[in-house]
Amino acid sequence: MPEISPFVFTEPLYCEKPSAWNEHTPFAFFLIEQLRPRLLVELGTQFGNSYFTFCQAIDALKLPAKAYGVDIWLSYSAIPFHGRQIYEHASRINNRHFSHFSNLLKMTFEEALPYFREGSIDLLHIDGMHDYASVKHDFESWLPKMSDQGVIIFHDSAVRDYGFGVWKLMEELMPKYPSFSFPFGNGLTVVCTGSKVPEAFLSFVKQAGDDAFTQQLFKTIGTQWALQHTLAHLQDELRTQQNLNAKLSETINERNAALADREHRLRLAEGSAASHLKQDVVHRFSLIKKWQRRQQKKKNLAVIENSALFDGAWYLKTYPDVQKTKLPAAKHYLQFGGMEGRNPSPAFDSAFYLEQNADVKASGMNPLLHFERFGRSEKRKYRALVPQADPQ
Ligand SMILES: C[S@@+](CC[C@H](N)C(=O)[O-])C[C@H]1O[C@@H](n2cnc3c(N)ncnc32)[C@H](O)[C@@H]1O
Repeated sequence: MPEISPFVFTEPLYCEKPSAWNEHTPFAFFLIEQLRPRLLVELGTQFGNSYFTFCQAIDALKLPAKAYGVDIWLSYSAIPFHGRQIYEHASRINNRHFSHFSNLLKMTFEEALPYFREGSIDLLHIDGMHDYASVKHDFESWLPKMSDQGVIIFHDSAVRDYGFGVWKLMEELMPKYPSFSFPFGNGLTVVCTGSKVPEAFLSFVKQAGDDAFTQQLFKTIGTQWALQHTLAHLQDELRTQQNLNAKLSETINERNAALADREHRLRLAEGSAASHLKQDVVHRFSLIKKWQRRQQKKKNLAVIENSALFDGAWYLKTYPDVQKTKLPAAKHYLQFGGMEGRNPSPAFDSAFYLEQNADVKASGMNPLLHFERFGRSEKRKYRALVPQADPQ
């Protein structure tokens, strides 16, 4: 039974996406430390949570190992990332940290087979499709590639939903090979296919499945990292969401400001339209008033012309200066003559009427016009011209 070193407590640095696999990172460190694989292959690398943990361990221990992560990196169900983006993400990590011993093979597992010699792989992680037929096919097609120290680990061996069948293959394999399972983190089963797996590791495998301390140790450390990664991921998501919210609220503010500005300009436009309208109404009203005044003047003129107390010929003859103005007699009498004390005919004494009716005089109204419109019906006093005494 090997000693468990503090290496199992190493912080996994590349588990960027929350995943059940993250609970197995302490065991990945243990596995690499114990097996010191010369060649590691992973079938199903995706974001690289598991693959880069193995690489981190190889790098930290400075092992003379080669590592290959195989994945087709097509869009994968339930993951809101395009396959190409996931591949670019994994490539970036690989190029930056592990390209001196690690390669990513972007191809199917079948296509990758010819790249490996028979009996060359010390550690194989099978984490591709999880239905029984696929995982069995992966196992059988890659088994010949395993070295005499070969160990294969299978992820998701405890999942019995979603059509997963790794558990079923494990039921077939575990009686045939030294093996054990961790039930947490969706299950991880270790199967020693080689005839020369290091003794210390074999003795670990033989007792690990039933040893409460081993199970608890890896579960506790693994869960802690998994939770920490989930928390970091959620914090990232929260920051992204907060940034989005801040941008949204900025957009809303800008839009509200634009709306307020538009409303303000609309109100100004309405105001100027209203004042134009008001000016227009005032103008029209004054035109109506003018027209009414003209109509009234015409009516007044007609009253004078039609009055029995007006004699146009007499008026012109009596006031020869009027002729010079070229105004018709009735119009002259209406506009000027009445208030100047001239008479419309010998039958109506303008001055007398104004003297008798102070209100008419004060109003400035033509005396005959007033008499015809009101005075006659009100029985106001008027008189004919008093004949002048003969100077003789
Ligand atoms: C469960 S994910 C791997 C998760 C990864 N081990 C981790 O820990 O992040 C399975 C991956 O296997 C890949 N895959 C499944 N079957 C494959 C095949 N036949 N050839 C190539 N890639 C395959 C999928 O593209 C997917 O990215």
